[in-house]
Amino acid sequence: MIHEPLWQAHAMPPIPAAAPPDHVDVAIIGAGITGLTAAALLKLSGKRVAVFEKDTVGSGETGHTSAHLTYVTDTRLGTLIKRFDEDTARLAWEAGAVAINLIEGIVTEHRIDCDFHRVPGFVCNPVMEEEEEGSTALAAEAALARSLGFTAAFHALGPIRGRPAVSYADQAIIHPRKYLAGLARLVHGDGSCVCEHAEVTEISDEPLTLTVGGTSVQCDYLVIATHVPLAGVAGTVRATLFQTKLFPHSTYVLGARLPSGLVAPGLYNDTSDPYYYLRVHEDATGAYAIFGGEDHKTGKVENTEACYDRLQATLTTILPEAQVDRRWSGQVIESNDGLPYIGETAARQFVGTGFAGNGLTFGTVSGMMAHDAALNLANPWKKIFNPSRQDVAGVVSSVREGIDYPLHYIADRLRTDRKTLPESIEPGQGKVIVVEGRRVACSRTDNGELIVLEAECTHMGCVVRWNVGEQTWDCPCHGSRFAPDGAVIGGPAETPLQRVEYLVPDAT
Ligand SMILES: Cc1cc2nc3c(=O)[nH]c(=O)nc-3n(C[C@H](O)[C@H](O)[C@H](O)COP(=O)(O)OP(=O)(O)OC[C@H]3O[C@@H](n4cnc5c(N)ncnc54)[C@H](O)[C@@H]3O)c2cc1C
Ligand code: FES
Repeated sequence: MIHEPLWQAHAMPPIPAAAPPDHVDVAIIGAGITGLTAAALLKLSGKRVAVFEKDTVGSGETGHTSAHLTYVTDTRLGTLIKRFDEDTARLAWEAGAVAINLIEGIVTEHRIDCDFHRVPGFVCNPVMEEEEEGSTALAAEAALARSLGFTAAFHALGPIRGRPAVSYADQAIIHPRKYLAGLARLVHGDGSCVCEHAEVTEISDEPLTLTVGGTSVQCDYLVIATHVPLAGVAGTVRATLFQTKLFPHSTYVLGARLPSGLVAPGLYNDTSDPYYYLRVHEDATGAYAIFGGEDHKTGKVENTEACYDRLQATLTTILPEAQVDRRWSGQVIESNDGLPYIGETAARQFVGTGFAGNGLTFGTVSGMMAHDAALNLANPWKKIFNPSRQDVAGVVSSVREGIDYPLHYIADRLRTDRKTLPESIEPGQGKVIVVEGRRVACSRTDNGELIVLEAECTHMGCVVRWNVGEQTWDCPCHGSRFAPDGAVIGGPAETPLQRVEYLVPDAT
C-alpha cells in the first residue's frame, strides 16, 4: 500500500531558483491552483507577479485532491436557492462551469499535457442504504438544474449499484500536479517568478510588504492563496473572526485498479452525509478509481485508521473487483453557508477560501476574480462570494461548529495524563501528557526518535491531538495541523509547535 496521493507519482519539472524581487505588481502567497491561476492570468495581462510557496508547487491540497472538475456544488442546488435565491445559486454554478471552460482553454492554448478530459458527472442516492426513497428529491433537483439552464437528466436506474441518479453533462477530470506544472511554467520568467521554499512570515502595510525568508518584497496588490488564509494585514481580531467562519474537515481517499470497462470514466458522488465520491479514469495501464469519503471535522477523530477501514469496506461493497493500492487524506474547508469566501478582506488584499470539495473549480474562480480585482475590473461573482457577506438566516452550522472552540479550550485542559512517561511512547504513536506540570505532545518516529513539543496550538491555544493515520498533530478547534516535528502543515496556525527539552532519565 502506498501512502501518498496518486498525483505525487508525477515528478514535477524543476523551477529555476529565483531570488525574491524587491518589488512586483502583484505578490501571491501559495502555489496551489488558486495562486497559480491568479498568477498566470495576471501575467498574461501584462503584470509582473511573484508567487511565494513555502514548500513546492502542488504540495498543498491541490496535490491531495480527488480531481473532479465539476460545477455541481457540495451544497445542493435546492439548498442554495432556499438559503440565498435563484440568481445566487445559478451564478455559483455558472462560476464553476466557466472555471472548467477556462482550464480547458488554458490547457489547449498553452499545450499543457495534464490528462484533461470532459466526462459526465452523476449524483446518486446513498450507496450504502437499501432504501430508494429520495429519488423524487433527485428528480426535482434535475428539473431545478434544467430550469436554471444546466444540462441535467434524472435516471431511475443509475450507474452505481442501480441507485437513482442525476447526470450532469460536461464535467471534467484532470491531473492536478501536471496542470500546476504547466501554470508554473507559464508564470516563471520575463520578470515574474515562482519561488519555492519561500515562506511568507510577515505581511505589513503602507507600503504593502511581505517578509520572505528574511527579505522584504514590496507589492501593489496581494493575493493570499494559502487555502486557509493567513492573518494578513486585516488585523488579528478581524482575521481571527474570519477564520472562525471556516471549518476544516479531514477527508480520506483510496486509489484502486479496476477492470477496464467496469465503470465508465466519470465523476460519481452520492447524497450520504458525509458523501462518498468516486472518480474513474482510463489510461495506458487500464482503469483506475479514486474513492473518498468518511469526512469529519479535523482533530475530532483520534482513530483515523478506522476511517480508512470503513472506506475500504464501502468500496468493496460497491465495487468488489477494486484492487486498492494507495491511500491518502487531506483537508477541505467548509464555509458557514455553503458558498466560498472570495474577495478583498482589506484594501489591496485578496483571499480565496471555504471551497469545500469544489476547490479546483472555486480555486480557479478565485484566480479569475483576483485578476479582475487587481486590475480594478468588474466581476459577476463579486457580490455572491463577498467574504464580508452577512450570515444567511437559518444557517446554524457556525453556531454549532463554533462551540468547539470554548468547549475544547476548557475540556481538553481538564484532561491530565500524568502517568504516561514520554519514554513509554511507541514508534508511530503520539500522546498528550503532563510532565513536570507542563502539558506536552510526545510522539516517536518509526526510527525511534522521541519528539516532545508544546501541546497548545499556536493559533488560539487549544490542545492538539495525535492523528495516528496521518502521523500529525491536529487541532480540534479550527483544524490546524502540525508535523511530528511541530512544523505547520495547514492553518489557521502560522507558527510551529515549539520543541520542549526532555531528557530521558537514565535507567541505571
Ligand atoms: C482528498 C481531497 C479531495 C478533494 N477533491 C476535490 C475534487 O474532487 N474537486 C475539487 O474541486 N476540489 C477537491 N478538493 C478540494 C481542493 O483540492 C482544494 O480546495 C484546492 O486544491 C485548494 O487549492 P488552493 O490553491 O486554494 O490551496 P493549496 O493547494 O493547499 O495551496 C496553498 C499553498 O499555500 C502554501 N502556503 C501556505 N502558507 C504559506 C506561507 N506562509 N508562505 C508561502 N506559502 C504558503 C502551501 O504550502 C500550499 O502549497 C479535495 C480536497 C481533498 C483534500
Ligand atoms: S486551530 Fe484554532 S486553536 Fe488550534
